[in-house]
Amino acid sequence: MKVLVLNGSPKEVSDTMCLTNSFLKGLNKEKGFEVKVIRLIEKNIKPCLGCFACWKSADGKCIQKDDQNEIMEEYKNADIVIYSFPLYSYAMPSHLKAFVDRLIPFNKMTMKEVNGHVVHAPRVDLSHQNLLFIAGCGFPNFEGNFDGLEIMIKNKFGPKAMTLFVSECPMLNEEEARPLTEPLIKKFELAGEYFAKHLDITPEMKKELETPMLDKNEYIKIVNSL
Ligand SMILES: Cc1cc2nc3c(=O)[nH]c(=O)nc-3n(C[C@H](O)[C@H](O)[C@H](O)COP(=O)(O)O)c2cc1C
Repeated sequence: MKVLVLNGSPKEVSDTMCLTNSFLKGLNKEKGFEVKVIRLIEKNIKPCLGCFACWKSADGKCIQKDDQNEIMEEYKNADIVIYSFPLYSYAMPSHLKAFVDRLIPFNKMTMKEVNGHVVHAPRVDLSHQNLLFIAGCGFPNFEGNFDGLEIMIKNKFGPKAMTLFVSECPMLNEEEARPLTEPLIKKFELAGEYFAKHLDITPEMKKELETPMLDKNEYIKIVNSL
C-alpha cells in the first residue's frame, strides 16, 4: 500500500512529525507499506488563482507550472494520505492551505447533495483512500481550539477523514519533558501498528491519543515561567 505523508510543518524539527514518525514506525512493523514523506514547505506551491481553468480544460490540470500537479499525481495513487501539521491561527499553515485549495481539480463544477451536504462531484475517484489528519498545537487543551479545523476537514474531505488533534506539542521535542511525552509517543506507535492491520483508529484510541500530557494549569504555569 502506498502511503503519502504530507508534512505541513515549516520547521526543520517538527513537533507534530514527532508523533507522525512514531505512528509510521508502528505502521512499518507490518510489511507492505511504501511510505513517502513530502515536506510541503520545500515545494513550490503557489496559491490558487481562482480562475477555474482546471474545471474548463479537458485534462483537469492546473495551469500553474509549479510542483502541485506532480504532487497531485502521487496523491491520486496513494492508498493512505496522512496530513501532519501544526495548528496555525485555529487552522492549517498557509502553505498547506494553498496545497489543499489546489486540490480542486480533483472535483468538477457539478454539484450534488450527499446527506444534506452540497459537494462538488469527483472528477477523480479517491473513495478508496484512507485519510488521516494529525494536527498538533501549542495551547493546552480547551474547548473549541480545534473546532474550525475539524469542520473544515469534514466539509472538504468528508466524514471518513480521521483526525487526531494533540495539544501541548512544543513539549514533544524537549529533552526535559521526556517523561511526560514518551508515553504519548509510544501510544502513537501502537496506533500505527493498529492502523496497519485495520486501517482505522478506534474512538477509545483517539480519546487516549488526544488526552493532554499535562494538566492545563500546570502547562500554562510552565510556559509562563520560561
Ligand atoms: C503562526 C503560528 C500560529 C499558531 N497558532 C496556534 C493556534 O491557533 N493554536 C495553538 O494552540 N497553537 C498555535 N501555534 C503553535 C503551534 O501549533 C505549536 O508550536 C506546534 O507545536 C508546532 O508544531 P510543529 O513543530 O509540528 O510545526 C501557532 C504557531 C505559530 C508559529
